[in-house]
Amino acid sequence: MRYEVVLPAAGSGKRMGAGQNKLFLNLADKPILVHTLLVFEHDENCTGIWLAVKDEERPFIQALIDKHNITKVKGLPTGGEERQHSVHSCIKEMSAVDVVLVHDAARPFITIPKITELAKVAYEKGAAIAGVRAKDTMKVVHNGLIKETVDRESLWMVQTPQAFRYDLLAEAEDVAEKVGFLGTDEAMLVERLGHDIHIVECSYENVKMTTQEDLIFGEAILKQRK
Ligand code: C5P
Repeated sequence: MRYEVVLPAAGSGKRMGAGQNKLFLNLADKPILVHTLLVFEHDENCTGIWLAVKDEERPFIQALIDKHNITKVKGLPTGGEERQHSVHSCIKEMSAVDVVLVHDAARPFITIPKITELAKVAYEKGAAIAGVRAKDTMKVVHNGLIKETVDRESLWMVQTPQAFRYDLLAEAEDVAEKVGFLGTDEAMLVERLGHDIHIVECSYENVKMTTQEDLIFGEAILKQRK
C-alpha cells in the first residue's frame, strides 16, 4: 500500500538534555534524524516525506537531506508549540492521499515490514497504530500510594507509526483544533470521532530516543543489526 509519511521533527528534546535538538545527535555514524529518514527513503511504498521543523533549523535539516541523498522529502513546514501542532502543519500542507503515516522522527528503528502492515490495515480499516504489550505489572498510583493493580492483559504501550486514511486524520485534527483538544498522539484525536483504531504488535526495539540511556540502547540495537 502506497503512503506518505509525516515526521514531526520540531521538538526541543529537553529530556535528552543535549542542549540541541536531540535528532541531530549521532547514533553510530549518522544523526538520529537521518537514520529515520533512510528507512522511509528505502521503502518503495513511501511516496513522500513531510518533515515539521523549526524555522531556524530548516537550513541544517535541508543540508542533512542533501548530504544523505534523501530524495522523497516534499516539504518542511514550520512545526508548532506541541507535537500535535507540528503534525497538523504537515497535514494541512500536503495534498490528500489514501494513507498517511505519522512517525516520530526520534524512532529510528522502525522496520519496513511493520510499516507495510500498518499502511495496509489503515487502508482497509481506517486507522492502525503500532504498540507493544506492557511487560511489567502496572499499578495506578495517587500521592505515592497504590490505588489499583490494572489487568496487564489489556494494557499496551503505544508507539508510532500511527497510520490513517488521510481524510479521517485530517477531519480528526480539524475537530481537535476547533474545540482546542490537545492529545498526546494522533490516535486520541481519531478516538474522539468514535472511529475504531486497530493495534499492530510492533517491537520493543522501536524505542523513542528520549533520554540519555536510550542512546545506549540505540547503539546496541545498531550493533546487533549489523
Ligand atoms: O519530545 P518527544 O520525543 O515526545 O517528541 C516526539 C517527536 O515529535 C520528536 O521527533 C520531536 O521532534 C517531535 N516534536 C515536534 N514538535 C513539537 C514537539 C515534538 O515536531 N512541538
